[in-house]
Amino acid sequence: MKNIIVITGGSKGVGKELAKEFLKRGENVCIIARTKTTLEKTRIELSKLSDKDIVAYVGDVSDEKFVKSFYKDITKKYNITCLVNNAGVGRFGTVYENNKQMIDEVFPAIVYGTILMTTYALPHLKKSKEIVKIVNIISQSGIRAFKNESVYCSAKWAQEGYAQVLRAETFGTNIKVVNVYPGGINSDFWKQNRNYVKVGVEESFASTNEVAKIVVENLYNKQSLVLKDLVFEQTHMNLE
Ligand SMILES: NC(=O)c1ccc[n+]([C@@H]2O[C@H](COP(=O)([O-])OP(=O)(O)OC[C@H]3O[C@@H](n4cnc5c(N)ncnc54)[C@H](OP(=O)(O)O)[C@@H]3O)[C@@H](O)[C@H]2O)c1
Repeated sequence: MKNIIVITGGSKGVGKELAKEFLKRGENVCIIARTKTTLEKTRIELSKLSDKDIVAYVGDVSDEKFVKSFYKDITKKYNITCLVNNAGVGRFGTVYENNKQMIDEVFPAIVYGTILMTTYALPHLKKSKEIVKIVNIISQSGIRAFKNESVYCSAKWAQEGYAQVLRAETFGTNIKVVNVYPGGINSDFWKQNRNYVKVGVEESFASTNEVAKIVVENLYNKQSLVLKDLVFEQTHMNLE
């Protein structure tokens, strides 16, 4: 069976750039996202860059039914060597402005998605005779507090809590957990959150490709040199 790397939220932003970087390393790649048109467009774009397998699944990573059927299907053809929990949504506002809709938009991919995608990957990853990796794209918002980000920080801190326990419980096994804490990244993520970026700050954000390159490079280091936490310099925003 061929090996494959699974990237949630692989249709755009950081996930798409991660897919490109993995393809450059000769990996087969699986991308998952909810929006069929964007996902298909990305699959076609990626397939022009590499002759490796690029598999796309339309689905919501917070939907347990989807997650179960996804693993049932993909593991018939591939060994998963790396899962990247990258899918995420941000909605910003003060603690006075929060509402249930914001929570319902932010929590599914980041919290439910990370936990479900990992839970149902673990039995397959555990079986591998090789070192396999789970990469969690968290955020500075998962380890610090930022004004206007109470809902997003809550979700990211939950993801961080899960990732820490996951690492503790898989310690000493073939499963290695790498947690990534980027600062601001220039992506569609900010489309819905423009009002919360100060004028001029956006230019200091990292590009999706810069972040993806650093994450992927780290994974290909000799195992004893893989950094288990990648904490980026914070460049945004409403700290004061
Ligand atoms: N941008 C930043 O400044 C920044 C900084 C630190 C950390 N991060 C984190 O980095 C990750 C990637 O963010 P990005 O900036 O690349 O955002 P992005 O460009 O908006 O991409 C988000 C991706 O996640 C997918 N997605 C969202 N909800 C999903 C769900 N329930 N199921 C499956 N796929 C889902 C989206 O596709 P669909 O909408 O079609 O599903 C899309 O492919 C996120 O976890 C984010 O929190 C971002």
